Amino acid sequence: MLIRPHRNGDVPGISRLYYDTIHLINSRDYTPEQVDAWAPVVPDMSFWKERLKKYRVYVAEEDGCIVGFTELDTTGHIDCFFVHHQWQRRGIGTRLMKRVVATAGKEQMPRLFAEVSVTAAPFFREQGFVVVKENEAIRRDVKLKQFDMERWLAG
Ligand SMILES: CC(C)(COP(=O)(O)OP(=O)(O)OC[C@H]1O[C@@H](n2cnc3c(N)ncnc32)[C@H](O)[C@@H]1OP(=O)(O)O)[C@@H](O)C(=O)NCCC(=O)NCCS
Repeated sequence: MLIRPHRNGDVPGISRLYYDTIHLINSRDYTPEQVDAWAPVVPDMSFWKERLKKYRVYVAEEDGCIVGFTELDTTGHIDCFFVHHQWQRRGIGTRLMKRVVATAGKEQMPRLFAEVSVTAAPFFREQGFVVVKENEAIRRDVKLKQFDMERWLAG
């Protein structure tokens, strides 16, 4: 498996994965109303355009298919962090996180932080993150429970 920066042409794979993972994996922890508010449709290019400028996006690729992706900004904020629904628990998240930590180290970021779904919290805990506080995201007027989590990096 290859972990690499995103490139032109990745958006359809990223978009599909994002939608499917929310509807097929996060749906274990969130109601149908919540997942529909979170991802009502497979997002189009307009959804990603500004994000791709703001974040460094890393993708995990297997046999030419995108099986995971994550977004990191220059402050250490991790936004999206998703693994393909058919590739869960095979170490892809761990590989993506290693890449994020390596980038953070190179760029001397003191900490990584994220607003983490209920679904992903055990993974982030396993990766050395701690809960700072419980939080609620509002998506299309629907509340979604999440956790503000952080991991301080060795200086
Ligand atoms: C969270 C996520 C990215 C983890 O990716 P992954 O590739 O499945 O993670 P890994 O295989 O590297 O898991 C490493 C370890 O984390 C822990 N872990 C991962 N998922 C877990 C779960 N659902 N429950 C408990 N522990 C979990 C385990 O200790 C696991 O090791 P093990 O499989 O040997 O027991 C993935 O489950 C996902 O896409 N979740 C839905 C999307 C999401 O909510 N993203 C975050 C938005 S903030």
